[in-house]
Amino acid sequence: MNIGALSRKQREVIHYWNAEKPLILINEGAVRSGKTVVNNLIFLRHVLGFAGQGVDFIVTGHTVPAVVRNVLQPMEDMFGVDTKLNTYNQFQLLGNRVTCFGGDKADSYKTMTGMTSYGWYGNEVSLQHENTIQEAFNRTSGDNFSILWDTNPDYPDHPIKQNHIDHSGERLDSGRERVHAIHWDLEDNPFLAPEYVENLKRSTPIGMWYDRAIKGLWCAAEGIVFEGYHAGVHLVEPFEIPTGWQRFAAIDLGFDNPFVCLWGTTDPDGRLYIYSEHYEAGWLLGRHADAIKQRGTMQWTVRDHDAQEGAELEERGVYTIPAQKDVLLGIQKVASRLTIQPDGKPRLFIFNTCTNLIRELARYRWRSGRTKEEPIKQDDHTVDALRYMVMELEYPQVPMISYVRM
Ligand SMILES: Nc1ncnc2c1ncn2[C@@H]1O[C@H](COP(=O)(O)OP(=O)(O)OP(=O)(O)O)[C@@H](O)[C@H]1O
Ligand SMILES: [Mg+2]
Repeated sequence: MNIGALSRKQREVIHYWNAEKPLILINEGAVRSGKTVVNNLIFLRHVLGFAGQGVDFIVTGHTVPAVVRNVLQPMEDMFGVDTKLNTYNQFQLLGNRVTCFGGDKADSYKTMTGMTSYGWYGNEVSLQHENTIQEAFNRTSGDNFSILWDTNPDYPDHPIKQNHIDHSGERLDSGRERVHAIHWDLEDNPFLAPEYVENLKRSTPIGMWYDRAIKGLWCAAEGIVFEGYHAGVHLVEPFEIPTGWQRFAAIDLGFDNPFVCLWGTTDPDGRLYIYSEHYEAGWLLGRHADAIKQRGTMQWTVRDHDAQEGAELEERGVYTIPAQKDVLLGIQKVASRLTIQPDGKPRLFIFNTCTNLIRELARYRWRSGRTKEEPIKQDDHTVDALRYMVMELEYPQVPMISYVRM
């Protein structure tokens, strides 16, 4: 990518930084709005002020590969600087040393101790652990240091929001601004093709995801999880599944709670149809296995992780693979499939005979008053099974023979 000009917003931000040099400059807001590009420029400008002095700077991100992808690669592409990392995750920049850290874990900060940094670039700070943020503050103490952050919005009580963004404009005794936050909208980036922006908007699930990524709002996960679900759009009359369409199953185990199995199939465009469900509480495993076996051979069957019950199902001729259980990612993937595509159709349909799934999907809610987004674990059995199936479609595991012995 070539940097020809800067957006008006980017110019304003650079002008502000030059004039005021706030201790912490925070660029926060919508995805793809131009925050990282401007931080790259300011960071280079800042390091240039120390050219040839052999001092240290730090860049923190969610993980080191994320730093490479988000910060170093664009820096190299745009400004032609060599950012290849040595084995200590360092590179030389204008006669100084830059060290990169991944900061997502509680103990990530330990790799950072001992150095004095003259500048800190925090990329996607809301994804970094509080300990990382604290340690980077401790390290960044060299004369005339500067701190630059960028972040997408997260939940409203996030420490980055509460302790810093909400304090924008606050001054130190010296009169220098301690922190200055600048909010970015998608519209602030004139370099994105209109079709790209339209597609981004249309493919982002509505609700929390859209409000954060597109509107740039620090909003909580509240209310209905699958706001994009509409009976009129997603429910279809049952039809005979053409031969050749692949079929899958997903199991959510339960005894007092219902034991659920969902069956799905994908059409040649990859659209998923949930065509049948099994939803029974209080049965012994063998009885479920018999019911499942009767439904024929599946491409694969996923189930939640319980190894014991996995083995018991296998003994009874139902072969399963453990599901990928990242709850939030799975929910987001289901929500993405519910989103109506530019061709006017979603990528997930449900036969209107799957009454338990239909009921639970419509009622599934976020737990409110929590900092971290988390759904209420109640009447979520079919929704969990749906999530496992969608995750397996999005991130296929090692191909495995999964079939039902008749
Ligand atoms: N000055 C510029 N000149 C040319 N292209 C630009 C410029 N600024 C931004 N872009 C383009 O816009 C894209 C998004 O910019 P950038 O990565 O800075 O956004 P961001 O706000 O950091 O996004 P995210 O929140 O998703 O990380 C870049 O990949 C680049 O293609
Ligand atoms: Mg960015």
